[in-house]
Amino acid sequence: MNTVLVGAQWGDEGKGKIIDFLTAESDAVVRFQGGSNAGHTVVAGGEKYVLHLVPSGILHEGKICVIGNGVVMDPASLAGELESVRSRGLKPEGRFFISERAHLVMPWHRALDKADEAARPGGSKIGTTGRGIGPAYSAKVGREGLRAGDMARADLPDLVRAGVESANRRLRALGAEEIDAEKTVAEFMPVAEALKPFVADTFTLLHDLADAGKDILLEGAQATMLDIDFGTYPFVTSSNPTAGGACTGTGLSPRQIDRVIGVLKLYTTRVGEGPFPTELNDADGETLRRRGGEFGATTGRPRRCGWFDAVVARYARRVNGIDFWAMTKLDVLDEFDTIKICTGYRRDDGFVYESFPADLSVLSRCTPVYEEMPGWKMPTSDITSYDALPQNAKRYVERVLELAGGKLGVLSVGPARETTLRIGV
Ligand code: GDP
Ligand code: IMO
Ligand code: MG
Repeated sequence: MNTVLVGAQWGDEGKGKIIDFLTAESDAVVRFQGGSNAGHTVVAGGEKYVLHLVPSGILHEGKICVIGNGVVMDPASLAGELESVRSRGLKPEGRFFISERAHLVMPWHRALDKADEAARPGGSKIGTTGRGIGPAYSAKVGREGLRAGDMARADLPDLVRAGVESANRRLRALGAEEIDAEKTVAEFMPVAEALKPFVADTFTLLHDLADAGKDILLEGAQATMLDIDFGTYPFVTSSNPTAGGACTGTGLSPRQIDRVIGVLKLYTTRVGEGPFPTELNDADGETLRRRGGEFGATTGRPRRCGWFDAVVARYARRVNGIDFWAMTKLDVLDEFDTIKICTGYRRDDGFVYESFPADLSVLSRCTPVYEEMPGWKMPTSDITSYDALPQNAKRYVERVLELAGGKLGVLSVGPARETTLRIGV
């Protein structure tokens, strides 16, 4: 059984936690897109781990973990993360592999990310994570990228020098500080040496696992509304976090995907710029941020918070073909008297959108259509079965399901591993 897991909103839905939960019954966990812009939190045994590039399955000793070809991988960031994994007594050797086709995020990509962002006029800033993601994917598509497999080449220092030279031309034009080629080479070579042993033909590895009937879990980063094609373009990331990306980002074929799980936070958050129809700039938004601990796992930025948006959830179900939802953070809503759900966007002329519009200027003419549900006003974090949930909590979850479509697979009521209710997966 091969499973793709994707974020259904604007990221930070709790993908890391759900991946960790599902890893117990999987043989391999694979990242298929994005890079160290992701921050996936796992709370296990009272300890908190935040993973950026290494698949969230790494915490389970013996499970195979793969960085697929669709990922853009920052070698320095990965080396640091592997060190922190080792310092916690976990061994990546023999079970962690990097696709030879994965592109590298180099220091100049980070510099270009920051310079591009600084050069954008006020209203068009994206609020990127500054991790070099956009420039690394631009280099890939522009056919001038460096790949993990290149770390074995004898002329690697020259490839790095050429990359620096090309980036410096752009940095100069943007009025940004240039990169020092020799310093970049000197810092990169030992990191490349340390990572080389992990570089592998992950295409064959994954197909062999699939042929042997092993269970592969494909871990999406970012989310549907940050997708380069289906998100709120241009306020998106530079990859396809939607389910289709799992095939192009690993080499597994669409026929080998057996199910798609969408992670759905029971309210909405967004980090960075861009439209967010149900955003709350009031005390309710503050309550969500405080109770949900809504601060970026990668950048520490406060996340924008708002009510659940069923337009987004429905859209995500269709784009990704979501079979099951893993709904998260129900407990964050425990205190509210009334909880709102957005069911559509009403344009100033009365037209109601029930699918997410491509033209963002439309959204500035729209207001969310809300329905209200009574809260349950009691803690849910220590509840261990769906039946034991307060009646109003069940009604809320069931209404979300009715509006979004799909089935409920997992319900999460707290950050820790144990606070995960298995329903239908
Ligand atoms: P990801 O990027 O989708 O993996 O999500 P993040 O790790 O960036 O953000 C999710 C945050 O919510 C993390 O701090 C998790 O520990 C936490 N979390 C996950 N599920 C739940 C839940 O059901 N309830 C609460 N209160 N916190 C949760
Ligand atoms: P996880 O996997 C939330 C956002 C950034 C910015 C936009 C583009 O933890 O859910 P980028 O650096 O990718 O070019 O930034 O995308 N963004 C995320 N928001 N969660 C993430 O990852 C994100 N990764 C990128 O804030 O708005
Ligand atoms: Mg995150």
